[in-house]
Amino acid sequence: MKRFLWITLSVSVLVWTGCGHQGTAESVTDVVPGDTVTPGDTEAGNTALKGDMPLDGESEPGVVEGPSHKVLVAYFSATGVTRGVAQNLARVLSSDIYEIVADPVYSAADLDWNDPNSRASREHEDHSIRPKIANHVENMSQYDVVLIGYPIWWGIAPQIVSTFVESYDFNGKTLAAFATSVSSAFGSSDEAIRELTPTAVWKTGQRLTSGDSDEVLRDWLRGVGVVE
Ligand SMILES: Cc1cc2nc3c(=O)[nH]c(=O)nc-3n(C[C@H](O)[C@H](O)[C@H](O)COP(=O)(O)O)c2cc1C
Repeated sequence: MKRFLWITLSVSVLVWTGCGHQGTAESVTDVVPGDTVTPGDTEAGNTALKGDMPLDGESEPGVVEGPSHKVLVAYFSATGVTRGVAQNLARVLSSDIYEIVADPVYSAADLDWNDPNSRASREHEDHSIRPKIANHVENMSQYDVVLIGYPIWWGIAPQIVSTFVESYDFNGKTLAAFATSVSSAFGSSDEAIRELTPTAVWKTGQRLTSGDSDEVLRDWLRGVGVVE
């Protein structure tokens, strides 16, 4: 039943993807990897927005805290949906934001889940594949909390998110995943990236949408321990 629902809904996504949605991913190439812009600039996808997360209030068990407490919203987005959620989270938190940019970016053909030979399908079949990332987070050590966003692909996080988590030392950092999808629940979509970062402190992830209100976002962020 779940599979039937996903297939039915996937037809509408395919139409949507074919109707120029891919342009969002292509526009990423217009931005120089590693660029920084000030908080509030939501135009550039491939950027790190600079800004400290406000920290006040009482402590919660397991929450990283201290005067240098800093959050990074890191995300991969092939067609722009997860980008919208990530930008909303970064706005609510006044945090830095970083887009995991694929090298090369995914074309519409790459994302064709009906084609067993498409790039996405091949990556899904072979979990040892680590798609290349075009850009890098400057000084990951400055962050105490990293929120990792991705679109759900066949129920799990795309392999490029594994490339991302293997590229840095997350020892002792607080991590939490957020995901977008057409119909799939968050489920255990973060399982693989959790297993790759056993020394991080993982919080419960959540499926979010770009239409979620700030209050919905804050509810999840409260559970992660980064807002009151
Ligand atoms: C290769 C591929 C596989 C997907 N698999 C699923 C899935 O299993 N369940 C689902 O609900 N949506 C699935 N989707 C849809 C995406 O999760 C959804 O459109 C997502 O919001 C796209 O985010 P993005 O624009 O940030 O890439 C898939 C999309 C692609 C391209």
